[in-house]
Amino acid sequence: MGSYLKTIEMDQFDSLLFYLAVSAVFSGSALHKLMKNKVKMEHTLVLGLLSLLILELLCCFILSDSLGLTLFSLACIIYYFFIPVKDILPAESKAILITGCDSGLGHALAKHLDELGVLVFAGVLDKKGPGAEELKRICSPQLSLIQLDVTHSGEIKEAYIEVKSLVQDAGLWGIVHNAGFLGYVADGELIPMSVYKQCMDVNFIGAVQVTKMFIPLLRKAKGRLVSISSMAGQTPIPGFAAYGASKAALSMFSAVMRQELFQWGVKVAAIHPSGFRTNILGSQEHWSSQDRKILDNVMPDVKEDYGEDYIATLKDLYPQMFISSSADLTPFLEDVCHALLARNPNYSYTPGSSAYFIPCLFRYFPIWVYDRFAIKAFQSNKNLLPKSLRISQTKNKSA
Ligand SMILES: NC(=O)c1ccc[n+]([C@@H]2O[C@H](COP(=O)([O-])OP(=O)(O)OC[C@H]3O[C@@H](n4cnc5c(N)ncnc54)[C@H](OP(=O)(O)O)[C@@H]3O)[C@@H](O)[C@H]2O)c1
Repeated sequence: MGSYLKTIEMDQFDSLLFYLAVSAVFSGSALHKLMKNKVKMEHTLVLGLLSLLILELLCCFILSDSLGLTLFSLACIIYYFFIPVKDILPAESKAILITGCDSGLGHALAKHLDELGVLVFAGVLDKKGPGAEELKRICSPQLSLIQLDVTHSGEIKEAYIEVKSLVQDAGLWGIVHNAGFLGYVADGELIPMSVYKQCMDVNFIGAVQVTKMFIPLLRKAKGRLVSISSMAGQTPIPGFAAYGASKAALSMFSAVMRQELFQWGVKVAAIHPSGFRTNILGSQEHWSSQDRKILDNVMPDVKEDYGEDYIATLKDLYPQMFISSSADLTPFLEDVCHALLARNPNYSYTPGSSAYFIPCLFRYFPIWVYDRFAIKAFQSNKNLLPKSLRISQTKNKSA
């Protein structure tokens, strides 16, 4: 009996060794391929790995050794071939239009693509402004500055005529919808209607109008349509009702265009960055103007319910957001370049810290888990409740 049990234990030990060996060979080869191709662990790859792990346990403990090992090895091989290979198209002389190049991410992208040899059409809000002047000074002569307010139909038309005359029959390889507007970060009830409208006009309608005007050139080149959306367009974040809603509209527009433009050979991607240190938060003057703008636009009873002290402390959030954002724009630049130049781009990119993790929390966990996390992590005013809530809390305590 003792020797029989020993034989079974030895058999189980042998089979565990086989599973370990297959796992080790798979992990080594997959890691090598991931690192060689600088592949980011996007959620499909992570989900695939988790499924492999579950499959390994099932095979090991439920199936016979031969069947289990064959099935598990087969799954490892499929996963290995599923890891994308870096296959980047040549950048030289590809024509790409970027909107909102006066500052920040668009400005850095224009310089980066110019260095790679791309024929950049840098759309700027102010052709005589400091951002445009810097691009003219630093970049190669092949970069063209294009006056382009994305909310101005006349400027979009003129930009189209200018770009078309320069690219002629080659068409346009890429459009990057980068121009963006944030406005104020505050409770949705307090954000003025003008901010909601401007967010929609710049972040969504502007991108749609530019797409509709330039799309024939993009179809000609079988090129790329890339939209700079935001993590706030995928995930509800307190304080971002106006901006987040406009970016969600942009993400959905991009997703539908991806389906429709597929038949034309145009590939479409959306970028959902988290916090990068740019001008998006606006200047100190902008932050200081917030109280007045809110107070001038809310109804007296809303002002009474929230309290002027609460409204005044909302702007304290900006310096915190500025500090917690990343000054290194490399992850953003790498992802946009991949979307523009990889033979097989992804449909969505999440550059920046937590830009992948937070949407996963929203998608895959019960909503109360995500809501508690978001309220704790992002709620605009952690230290002070709106006035009416404070009063009722005090009453409850003393009752
Ligand atoms: N930085 C981040 O953490 C972050 C995160 C997620 C998503 N994003 C998105 O990334 C994109 C770039 O933003 P950024 O961070 O680089 O901020 P930014 O420095 O403010 O850049 C936005 C650019 O868009 C321009 N712009 C504003 N209204 C425009 C209009 N009507 N027409 C054309 N251009 C216009 C701005 O010009 P002015 O400077 O003259 O106003 C500015 O150059 C935006 O779409 C933003 O929503 C940024």
